[in-house]
Amino acid sequence: MATQEKATVENAQLKDIISHAKEYGFVFSSSDIYDGLQAVYDYGQMGVELKNNIKNLWWKCMTQLNQNVVGLDAAIFMHPLVWKASGHVDSFNDPMIDNKDSKKRYRADVLIEDKAAQYEAEGRVEEAGALLAEMGKLLEDENLDGVRELIISEGIKCPISGTANWTDVRQFNLMFSTQVGSVAEESQTIYLRPETAQGIFVNFLNVQKTGRMKVPFGIAQIGKAFRNEIVARQFIFRMREFEQMEMQFFVRPGTEMEWYEKWKEARKAWHLAIGIPAESLRYHDHEKLAHYANAAVDIEYRFPFGFKEVEGIHSRTDFDLTQHQELSRKKMQYFDNDLNEEGKPYGNYIPYVIETSAGADRLFLMTLCNAYTEEEIVEGDSTKSRTFLKFHPALAPVKAAILPLTKKDGLPEKATEIFDSLKYDFNMIYEERDSIGKRYTRQDLIGTPFCIAVDHQTLEDNTVTVRDRDSREQVRMPISELHNYINKAVSFKSIFEKLA
Ligand code: GAP
Repeated sequence: MATQEKATVENAQLKDIISHAKEYGFVFSSSDIYDGLQAVYDYGQMGVELKNNIKNLWWKCMTQLNQNVVGLDAAIFMHPLVWKASGHVDSFNDPMIDNKDSKKRYRADVLIEDKAAQYEAEGRVEEAGALLAEMGKLLEDENLDGVRELIISEGIKCPISGTANWTDVRQFNLMFSTQVGSVAEESQTIYLRPETAQGIFVNFLNVQKTGRMKVPFGIAQIGKAFRNEIVARQFIFRMREFEQMEMQFFVRPGTEMEWYEKWKEARKAWHLAIGIPAESLRYHDHEKLAHYANAAVDIEYRFPFGFKEVEGIHSRTDFDLTQHQELSRKKMQYFDNDLNEEGKPYGNYIPYVIETSAGADRLFLMTLCNAYTEEEIVEGDSTKSRTFLKFHPALAPVKAAILPLTKKDGLPEKATEIFDSLKYDFNMIYEERDSIGKRYTRQDLIGTPFCIAVDHQTLEDNTVTVRDRDSREQVRMPISELHNYINKAVSFKSIFEKLA
């Protein structure tokens, strides 16, 4: 397929997924009735279930499968010095460039990355690599004039005005700020956290001491983060308000690379275990390391718009704890009384940190893209198409639908009885409107793995038919077996077992 044609098909696929997400209650634009707010989204009735399932699974895998990882829920607002210490006040910037004709603002590095992606799609892989390497070097040297020259020499134009009439490249801080305090003179500028990680660092000793934790150990947290992203695109991929699932793993200095490799493997295995195919995942080593890291890798998923980051694994050294020790003037050291090879306690040190940092919204988008399936069904001489969401049953928003075949003859009562016996353990839907075929279709569109039809035979022998979403096959089984049957498919256990 020609590059242009391929890009059009991929964009069409993303468009279909976005409209599906809206039509079936997964994702809405924020403040929709006011025409939305750029890069901010709301999760609807199906979306919130899917997102909660993703977050719960991550949480349980981190804290229940790893006895040395515990949880935390720190506040979004933090002391302003936290962000001075972490480096975010001084260096959490994106290089921006404006087009003077269209007055549109772009991230300079994204313009260059898009050019490299275009080269790659055209089979000019080496040129793509060289371009990215050159950009990496210029950014590392903070040579913003050089970045502008590169944009011009590559003939990059504004997609709106079609011109290369560019301003200088400037750094733009991504943190949102607000004021606390009721009286203007007494108010203080604070930031909305741009990452959840700092809440973990400042609580490191609180958790270590109260939980009697021994290094190596980890602290996991799920929570909102905020960034004033300039390039808001690709739906919920890049948002201004989003959710992170982060874990900081504290280790002995000198052992960090060993743990870095372990977590890198473990996190990829997690994505595979939730049903993401191996060919849709890849590692991408960072060429330009963040100010705090000595090694970093992204796990990328093949979205309809190309391979993009869903999670980062970073070796953050002792940067954050050391910085907090300096600015807070509170000791952030840990006393390690285990014995070294010489039979002496390791003593006091500031631990090194391996971070795993995933975006809940990006994992949501990945799960949705991976599940979105269109298939042709041949029935006799005719062919019809079917769209369904092939979620891993453990992540599906609704686990089963109970469908009485008709609204009379006592079938609704029997169906309600079955519904009531299962509703405490599974998120279920009861539906009696429309033909059974239409009801199956509606469940396919929201990704419900099982449809349970209650018919006249049910009244006689207490059996039901269970339709499988993916194969469309139906099996008859006693009502008494339903709980086990559903539970086996939707429980996190099958995922845990793959990771154990
Ligand atoms: N604590 C490290 C950290 O925040 P990051 O690579 O900037 O690292 C980690 O972010 C993850 O957070 C990313 O892999 C991505 O999944 C998610 N993320 C970052 N910015 C995002 C945004 N604007 N919208 C949605 N998710 C975002």
